[in-house]
Amino acid sequence: MSVAAGHALWSQPLLRRPLSFVTTTRFPTIFSTTMSTSTPVPHVPIPAKGVDYRGKVVLAPMVRSGELPSRLLALKYGADLVWGPETVDRSMIGTEQKVNPRTGCLEWTRPSNNQAAQGMPVKESIIFRIDPKRESSQFIYQIGTSNPDTAVQAASLVAPYVRGIDVNAGCPKPFSTSGGMGAALLRTPDLLCSILTALVEKVGTPNEIGISVKIRLLETPEATSALVNQLCKTGITGLTIHCRTTPMRPRERAIREQLRMIGDICRNHGVACLMNGDVTSREEGLALAQEYGIDGAMIATAAEANSSVFRSKEDGGVAPWQDVVKEYIQLAMSVENKCGNTKFLLSQLMPGRSPAYQGVQMARSYVEILAVLDITDVEMISKAKEADNILGLDVPRVTKADIKRQHKQQEKENQQKHQAKQAKRALEAGNNQKRRASQERSKKQKAEIAAGNAGFDGIGQGAMALAA
Ligand SMILES: Cc1cc2nc3c(=O)[nH]c(=O)nc-3n(C[C@H](O)[C@H](O)[C@H](O)COP(=O)(O)O)c2cc1C
Repeated sequence: MSVAAGHALWSQPLLRRPLSFVTTTRFPTIFSTTMSTSTPVPHVPIPAKGVDYRGKVVLAPMVRSGELPSRLLALKYGADLVWGPETVDRSMIGTEQKVNPRTGCLEWTRPSNNQAAQGMPVKESIIFRIDPKRESSQFIYQIGTSNPDTAVQAASLVAPYVRGIDVNAGCPKPFSTSGGMGAALLRTPDLLCSILTALVEKVGTPNEIGISVKIRLLETPEATSALVNQLCKTGITGLTIHCRTTPMRPRERAIREQLRMIGDICRNHGVACLMNGDVTSREEGLALAQEYGIDGAMIATAAEANSSVFRSKEDGGVAPWQDVVKEYIQLAMSVENKCGNTKFLLSQLMPGRSPAYQGVQMARSYVEILAVLDITDVEMISKAKEADNILGLDVPRVTKADIKRQHKQQEKENQQKHQAKQAKRALEAGNNQKRRASQERSKKQKAEIAAGNAGFDGIGQGAMALAA
């Protein structure tokens, strides 16, 4: 038995809920090699409105790449569940909840600080949104937090509309860890457990949904084992293990050595376990889960590059990027997704070598995106015009390049004016000189005439006297 499996479930005094027992016949047959079909295994009961992560291949939480249209796309291609991007608790507290009358989406908004500070008309920023019709039944909300009270406050806002709340305890980015959130929670396991316990008791139980956590590997199997054991006693229904340690970069290969041990601990506690890290397709996810005795798999970057990785081979497998891009744009327009986010996602979905790649990045509206991609579908173009109109993309916008161009034009005009002024001055100076010369001449002539009239010339007179 592994180090971790020695921590038996039954003796855990901290366990919050009575366990139910099920036989493995509830699981897909792929898991039968890891569990005898007759052995009863414990389950932390899945609440009535919650969802069991077992047997699932799911979309990972991804800031920016996991916005609403990306989630809808993953669901369209067969993802069993989708995680939302980490949303920090403090950013949700104090938001106003609205229904977008055109899309039917639920939106949590707050006035944009930047615009207020700049004295501009205050716009609403959407902090989080969900499509209750198309995703609610498969949606897990991920929260960024380092405090049980604020976690409960924020999670309570969305709990009635989601199937589960997941705590991010794996993000290594400074914006997360500096506030004690994300991977920093791996160093403060007691705090992490108090957050999970508070969420289970004050959000999960009253709303009848499950609470889960996403963690990374610690440096040693012993440390990971101790942490997973502690977490599994909080009453969570699921745990995702990202098979990298905190200092590891995303391009470094995922480590799978501790997986079986983690799966064993979770199973002994009745907690569903998902594996994450370098999973590239539904089939691979299920095969790896079976190989390591895990309950399911989570996919991030492979799904960011082509969401059809969720589609089984039987249903057509991975689709060409052109098809995926078209589907994605339709979904993005249907939920009025910000054009900037859509272009970012398209930069992930399109190969960089595609001739349209640069054009899409330069496009300023949905209509322009369709034009660059040569999409001539009349209905899509009409939807694009509608989306552009709603998002204010159909009015000429003043960009930085426009301002630069205007400055250059202004400079040119100023220079031309200056040159014209100088030329005018030079001309005037020339004319004045001519006028003065002519005045001099006429003065002299007048004097000569006057002298002639008087019968002698003063100068000439002296000269004549000398000559005589
Ligand atoms: C663009 C991007 C954003 C991410 N945002 C989050 C996040 O909000 N919360 C989280 O727990 N992990 C986040 N992750 C990590 C992924 O969920 C996942 O754990 C990691 O990418 C490993 O999976 P993979 O090997 O399939 O990419 C993010 C990853 C990427 C690429």
